[in-house]
Amino acid sequence: MPKRTYGNEFGFATRAVHTGNDIDGETGALRRPITMANSYELPYDPSDMNWSDAGGSLYTRNGGANQKYLQEKLASLEGGEDCVALASGVGALSGLFFALLQSGDHVIFSSVTYIAAYRLLNELFNNKFRVETTLVDTTDPENVRRALRPNTRLIHIETPGNPTLMISDIRAIAEIAHAHGAYLSVDNTFASPFNQRPIELGADFVVESLTKYINGHGDAMGGAIIGRTKDLAAIRAQSQINLGATISPFNAWLIMRGAVTLPLRMRQHNASAQKVAEWLEAQPCVRFVAYPGLESHAGHAVAQSQMAPGYGGVMAFGLNTDHDGHNRFVSHLRVITSAVSLGHDESLIVFLGEDDERQYLFPEEFHGGFFRFSVGLEDAEDIIFDLKQALEKAGLL
Ligand SMILES: Cc1ncc(COP(=O)(O)O)c(C=O)c1O
Repeated sequence: MPKRTYGNEFGFATRAVHTGNDIDGETGALRRPITMANSYELPYDPSDMNWSDAGGSLYTRNGGANQKYLQEKLASLEGGEDCVALASGVGALSGLFFALLQSGDHVIFSSVTYIAAYRLLNELFNNKFRVETTLVDTTDPENVRRALRPNTRLIHIETPGNPTLMISDIRAIAEIAHAHGAYLSVDNTFASPFNQRPIELGADFVVESLTKYINGHGDAMGGAIIGRTKDLAAIRAQSQINLGATISPFNAWLIMRGAVTLPLRMRQHNASAQKVAEWLEAQPCVRFVAYPGLESHAGHAVAQSQMAPGYGGVMAFGLNTDHDGHNRFVSHLRVITSAVSLGHDESLIVFLGEDDERQYLFPEEFHGGFFRFSVGLEDAEDIIFDLKQALEKAGLL
């Protein structure tokens, strides 16, 4: 049976279902199996093998079968040439930074990013490896231009940014990066490739935490870097063979299965989050809501121009109450769970208090403490009812 391929002549949903899967050659099963093996059989004379070959059938840390299937699907969905799938989103960020950056290089990165990206660049790479770093409010591309130095090698942005949902203009920043000979990487975790494809907007690399929307079921961790084949070769080798951030075959298989329904799930996340954000914004006890789908969001126009079908399921909001009032509200929720992570099937909320060390980098309305809220796939009416009854029980509505 010839390998079935699904190129870009097919739509996003068709590729989400089929790309990377094929008929199993041995059994004729319609699903490729999970290959749980650490090692692969060597040829007759293995003495001239390259033991550090990434991607061959040798040793699972160098790359395994399920990982390759997943990479095929993700490269296609992101509109990139190639992909490296890894053990976590942070594994992907580390793999990218370790392979690209050397002592003496300069990196510009968004002042609002997932905390681990901040720690990696601003604490580890900066202090340990003498990589120069500049934190920039990337909502204004001119700030990026002003921060350029002759040794700027990488601009790393997150849009929407975790946890404030700030929006950066990918097209404008890609132009600035390339005019300077620097790379642009975009953490696309909050949007997912269904809503936003940074490579099509000019980025060189996309980073995804597969743990979130792409898997979507809250049961497996993974990360990915998507980009050009020539740029990914060193990243693949270093992130797997040197850093050991290889994804397990089982997790790759689970994420492959989760990704099949990404378009359906994202449509629902987009629609429910929009409804919930509009409802929250109309409540007098709600101090602010940050959601790129709201006209009140400072990045709404840019988000409209780069996040095609919708704005994802994550928002931030704060209440007109004190520290304890925020926690009291959460204690009354019955459908929504207080837990970290986002992009799962179930709704998750986390209270980020007033003490976050990066508070000074966030807009002022965030300084009184706020929630990051990931709207799940439950009925939107039930999510809104849950918020309402918890606000009432907490004495806030
Ligand atoms: C935007 C973003 N990037 C990266 C990560 C890290 O992903 P992981 O938890 O899979 O390592 C996260 C995790 O929350 C995230 O929100």
